[in-house]
Amino acid sequence: MTKSALISGASRGIGLGIATRLAQQGYSLTITARDADRLEAVAAELRAAGAPEVVPVAADMADEDGVARVLGAHADRFTTMSALILNAGVGTAGTLAESSMRRFDKTIAVNLRAPIQLIQGALPLLRAGAAADPDRGAKVVALSSITGVYAEAGLAVYGAAKAALISLLTTLNAEESANGVTATAIAPGYVDTDMSAWVHDQVPPHQMLAVNDIVEMTDALLRLSPRAVVPSIIMSRAGTDGYRA
Ligand SMILES: NC(=O)c1ccc[n+]([C@@H]2O[C@H](COP(=O)([O-])OP(=O)(O)OC[C@H]3O[C@@H](n4cnc5c(N)ncnc54)[C@H](OP(=O)(O)O)[C@@H]3O)[C@@H](O)[C@H]2O)c1
Repeated sequence: MTKSALISGASRGIGLGIATRLAQQGYSLTITARDADRLEAVAAELRAAGAPEVVPVAADMADEDGVARVLGAHADRFTTMSALILNAGVGTAGTLAESSMRRFDKTIAVNLRAPIQLIQGALPLLRAGAAADPDRGAKVVALSSITGVYAEAGLAVYGAAKAALISLLTTLNAEESANGVTATAIAPGYVDTDMSAWVHDQVPPHQMLAVNDIVEMTDALLRLSPRAVVPSIIMSRAGTDGYRA
């Protein structure tokens, strides 16, 4: 069977790394991000890398209608889903004292509300994907953060959203793993992408996790049998005490 995956935030960074690996493995892909031009260019690259079909859908994950369009585009083209990669996320630093409710709402919308909507909307396709591939089942992989596990000053809102994501996936496993749909939240420290560039004066890129580290971990998770449930994985940076972003 042709496997298919839906990947949010697939145009740059970790999402692009995962999308490229899945394209090389022959997955068909539905990809989304806000910048439509960049997404089209990435779609062409992914086709060249081996994806039989790539469906690019530009959307803002803070917009419920946008998330619905992404789900609809996948369902229009594919009858199953082998993997749902909940990767799009926003992160702004700021103490609790100075965080605005506007920032809180936007962070929760992209980092938590959209994943809930994507999981709900994709579940029928994921169950069908699991039934069609009993050796692998269907997988949900979400990019949480180490700050969702070990809270850190200055990352309160981001950390709270990422902690909620871990809880959400644990519940998903409780409800759906018997149907062959299993989920993992990956919680890394700083990864060398655009998102972490703001912290380069304190943490240089060579001390960060590499995008490929997250890609390798995701690849391994997608190859597990549906009998194995891995609710969360913490990936710390070497040279730290393991409890810091
Ligand atoms: N980098 C790190 O240090 C780190 C550490 C731990 C966890 N994470 C998590 O890993 C995930 C990926 O991070 P990254 O470092 O790869 O980020 P990135 O390099 O900034 O890329 C983010 C991707 O998400 C898309 N995106 C951003 N906001 C969006 C929105 N509102 N709606 C739709 N798409 C949106 C971006 O495209 P557009 O801008 O075109 O929309 C881009 O494709 C995030 O969930 C992040 O929280 C990152």
